[in-house]
Amino acid sequence: MQRISLVLITLCLLLGSSSSLEIGETCSTENQCDAGLRCDSCSANGNTRNRCTRIQPLAPTSKVKGLPFNQYSWLTTHNSFALSGSKSATGSFIVAPTNQEDSVTSQLTNGVRGLMLDMYDFNNDIWLCHSFGGQCFNATSFQPAINVLKEIQVFLEANPTEIVTIFIEDYVTSPNGLTNVFKAAGLSKYWFPVSQMPKSGGDWPTIDDMVQKNQRLVVFTSKSSKEASEGIAYEWRYVVENQYGNDGMKAGSCPNRAESSPMNTSTISLVLQNYFHTNPNQSAACVDNSDPLISMTNTCYQAAGKRWPNFIAVDFYQRSDGGGAPEAVDVANGHLTCGCENIAYCKVNATFGTCDVPEISPPPPAGDGGTSQEPSNDSVISRPVQLRWLIGTILFTVLLLL
Ligand SMILES: *[C@@H]1O[C@H](CO)[C@@H](O)[C@H](O)[C@H]1NC(C)=O
Ligand SMILES: *[C@@H]1O[C@H](CO)[C@@H](O)[C@H](O)[C@H]1NC(C)=O
Ligand SMILES: *[C@@H]1O[C@H](CO)[C@@H](O)[C@H](O)[C@H]1NC(C)=O
Ligand SMILES: *[C@@H]1O[C@H](CO)[C@@H](O)[C@H](O)[C@H]1NC(C)=O
Ligand SMILES: *[C@@H]1O[C@H](CO)[C@@H](O)[C@H](O)[C@H]1NC(C)=O
Repeated sequence: MQRISLVLITLCLLLGSSSSLEIGETCSTENQCDAGLRCDSCSANGNTRNRCTRIQPLAPTSKVKGLPFNQYSWLTTHNSFALSGSKSATGSFIVAPTNQEDSVTSQLTNGVRGLMLDMYDFNNDIWLCHSFGGQCFNATSFQPAINVLKEIQVFLEANPTEIVTIFIEDYVTSPNGLTNVFKAAGLSKYWFPVSQMPKSGGDWPTIDDMVQKNQRLVVFTSKSSKEASEGIAYEWRYVVENQYGNDGMKAGSCPNRAESSPMNTSTISLVLQNYFHTNPNQSAACVDNSDPLISMTNTCYQAAGKRWPNFIAVDFYQRSDGGGAPEAVDVANGHLTCGCENIAYCKVNATFGTCDVPEISPPPPAGDGGTSQEPSNDSVISRPVQLRWLIGTILFTVLLLL
């Protein structure tokens, strides 16, 4: 009897998975890592060992609540709907590139609050699609937009203090096509009205105000005419945005995209930072989303007239070499909400600029700098794992002796 329980305990210790590994620690399965982390490698950066990697930012409002909407930064997914490995709802295989790896529901659960959705007239409905020459085809179509809009509706319903922003790349020409699909998805009641968006560089309403009035869905379209015809805000009247794709990834420069006013236009209150390749590259994303992203965030801060981005948009948002896009959003929120280098250093209810920087800062070990003898460095192997093996091994020895 004793022996059996000893065997079980030993097995548990040797094989068991406790969720106690921190960021950067070596892992073998997902559930070994703390909440908000996943077990992943970044071989494009020479890091072939699986380590716990961040996939969730800290909630922007976790330290300082009640600021205007434009004083927070929100993690944003580029082509949020274009999931790797998915099939078109027409039944066709998909030949279009993909940009993300989990559903919009899962993205929202992980703290994504900005969604970029490409919408087209297709099959007598509005679809999420990629295009050839502005046209949607079976093999470039993902699914009807209403499916994803309903996921957003369910999230907003279940999370009454959360705010979601949608950026529509708008190819819809059917009259009231967008209005109808948002209405059908049950999203009209959350609509943030265009009339309340600041038009000359002032602050947005506060988060509290938006929550209280239940105006928790902010929607922008790329078609200017829709603002007058359907009350959908024309994005570049309210948002400045840097160049997307490869031209937006040149270190040291942050030009505006063609449709946007210059980044430093102070009469426009929101700043959006894109950072993703023209052709999405799943294996390069862990590098892009790490040090280079933080570095570009600093560059764009300068270009935007010393303004931190309100939206940071990436491909494969879960991929990084440690802290990733969540870390970049935490940095922006630190500066925006409390005047610290990272929101993790903000003190609750403290004066702006009072920071609590830990002696050993949370280590997103971005860029090991190659494969160089690293894997054998003991200090990188997690303590909990070592301890488990130690106790397990002792018990195993005891068992052999019994
Ligand atoms: C596209 O998909 C629809 C629905 O599955 C199908 O009826 C149609 O034949 C397909 N079109 C082409 C060109 O394959
Ligand atoms: C905005 O940036 C441009 C360069 O891109 C510069 O010439 C201009 O003076 C800046 N405007 C303001 C108001 O800072
Ligand atoms: C994707 O990124 C990887 C790693 O950086 C690189 O080796 C590969 O050539 C890239 N693929 C394309 C199609 O650019
Ligand atoms: C911060 O301030 C709010 C509002 O004044 C108060 O409700 C809350 O308890 C404070 N939190 C802390 C940790 O002091
Ligand atoms: C092991 O890693 C620690 C922290 O990353 C570092 O300070 C130390 O120099 C490394 N030791 C070796 C032998 O690489």
